[in-house]
Amino acid sequence: MSSTKPIEPPVIRFEEVVKSFGTQRVLDGLTFEVRRGQCLAIMGPSGTGKSVILRHAVGLMKPDAGRVLVEGQEPSKLKPRELAVLRKKIGFLFQEGALINWLSVRDNVALPLRENTRLSEAEIATKVEEKLDLVRIAKQSFDKMPSQISGGMKKRVGLARALVTEPEIVLYDEPNAGLDPEISASINDLIREVQVRLGTTSIVVEHRVACIKTVADEVLFLEKGRAHLQLPPKEFFSSSDPRLRQFLGPNPD
Ligand SMILES: Nc1ncnc2c1ncn2[C@@H]1O[C@H](COP(=O)(O)OP(=O)(O)OP(=O)(O)O)[C@@H](O)[C@H]1O
Ligand SMILES: [Mg+2]
Repeated sequence: MSSTKPIEPPVIRFEEVVKSFGTQRVLDGLTFEVRRGQCLAIMGPSGTGKSVILRHAVGLMKPDAGRVLVEGQEPSKLKPRELAVLRKKIGFLFQEGALINWLSVRDNVALPLRENTRLSEAEIATKVEEKLDLVRIAKQSFDKMPSQISGGMKKRVGLARALVTEPEIVLYDEPNAGLDPEISASINDLIREVQVRLGTTSIVVEHRVACIKTVADEVLFLEKGRAHLQLPPKEFFSSSDPRLRQFLGPNPD
């Protein structure tokens, strides 16, 4: 008898996804998948649809054609209640941070726990402080409002909020944006650590090569709305594909 294990379906799968805004076709038959515990990085020029891809994965956008599957379900076809259940499994770091202006740093990070769990306020406070420590936010900033902190800090608070429920799937939109190299390195280590410790499945949209080398199992190069290349980081960065070389430039960092 064969003892081969059945192959588990991918956690995230895009099948021939097409998406246009007016006459502008952004995704044009995009296909890729991410298996459980894997991290896929997405690279591509500005405006090619990287953020649009992440929005499809959480049902904030609906494909014009093709299918988006997350844990075997199509987010854009779920009823609000079913979508809410799926979203509980997903942490989303928005490109712009997307902190809620009228909530303090602490309350922004606490929000997913208050909405999705029955933890006591004391338990919530402990988890929130632990995550804020991990993203290197100093204690004196815990009670500041988003308008009182820098762009790089907002990004890190957004990251703490995306990770606070320890979700099975995490979507990171440019986690390194606005961070200096030292903080950046610690954030990348944190992303990797979360993947290893929790077996998280993730997509990371990122420009920085150092980040991708630390966190990604594979890298997808998005070009003209399709996956132009998808390779492990080592092969990806040494590829002689002309479009990729042109995009990366002579000294990719
Ligand atoms: N809600 C929307 N309505 C109309 N056009 C949109 C919308 N969202 C995105 N677009 C367009 O789709 C294209 C892709 O946008 P997207 O934000 O995904 O780019 P990106 O690859 O993430 O770029 P960047 O690297 O600058 O973040 C852009 O031309 C953008 O203007
Ligand atoms: Mg973007």
